[in-house]
Amino acid sequence: MTAVWEAVPVAMPRGGGLLWVDDLCHLGPDYLARYFRPQHQGIAPRVLALALRGAAPEVADHVLAHAAPELAAAVRAHGAVDTNRAEVLQAQLAVASVYFWEMAYHGYPEVYERFSARQQPPLDEMFPPETYRGRTVLDVGTGGGRLLVHLDGHAAELYGIDPCPPLLGIAGTKVPGAILREGGFDRLPLADASVDAVISHGAYQISEERGGLAGLAEIRRVLRPGGTARIAVAKAETARHLRSTGATEIPVRGAIEWTAPPKTEDPLLHHLLRLARVAFGEDGRATTPVWLFEVG
Ligand SMILES: C[S@@+](CC[C@H](N)C(=O)[O-])C[C@H]1O[C@@H](n2cnc3c(N)ncnc32)[C@H](O)[C@@H]1O
Repeated sequence: MTAVWEAVPVAMPRGGGLLWVDDLCHLGPDYLARYFRPQHQGIAPRVLALALRGAAPEVADHVLAHAAPELAAAVRAHGAVDTNRAEVLQAQLAVASVYFWEMAYHGYPEVYERFSARQQPPLDEMFPPETYRGRTVLDVGTGGGRLLVHLDGHAAELYGIDPCPPLLGIAGTKVPGAILREGGFDRLPLADASVDAVISHGAYQISEERGGLAGLAEIRRVLRPGGTARIAVAKAETARHLRSTGATEIPVRGAIEWTAPPKTEDPLLHHLLRLARVAFGEDGRATTPVWLFEVG
């Protein structure tokens, strides 16, 4: 029997750089099938159902057509439970908060790239180019290719992996020689023992599909004997998690240095800066911490 699905029309909040549930349309079929696991981020199927019932019908169809079948079935089972607009908006806020960054990466990659350009991590300290000279290096969660640019001309061979095709497109224009593939920490599209070094900046997260212990196991699988992996993270919670896995922490003297964008920049870019908790001083500069771990 097909589950009943009743839409609940609500007005989508708009403006000020806000992304909302309709922006889930930017997540492609492959991403939805492989990485869309809201239940791992505290979003129960009922909450996702309420959020999608208030979305544009074509967005709800898109998400449910491509999400993992068990998730789609669990969501559809809540397709007609009693609800009201306030509850639907609350559910949408929860979903939009969890997927805000992914919706920005996939839907507004140029704006995300300009946001990214506002930050200067201490790359020479964390990933000294001479360390990677002549080696085969894999950057996981390469995004717009920040680390690939950093090691271009030093590493013998550069691989960049990311689940976001639009960001990979941007990385490809910056480092045409890099080998770019869709994928993620959960399943690196490389053979066992095929790289000398793995690097990652700002991409590793705690959940298994975004990193976690499975991600560390994947890193070890693709490393050649004696190879090293360095993972930089910008969240204290992720750093605590990595410490708990037994990864070796490497003290970082520097910090991520930010420069403020002009007021005329896209409101989404300003919003991303707020979400990243970047507080600029009078001089238009800010710093945020970064933690570095070695996994062997
Ligand atoms: C904050 S950005 C960092 C990008 C880049 N490393 C940099 O330093 O600018 C996070 C990146 O992680 C990617 N990502 C999301 N899920 C991922 C996963 N499961 N495995 C690997 N990367 C993932 C995103 O698509 C995005 O490009």
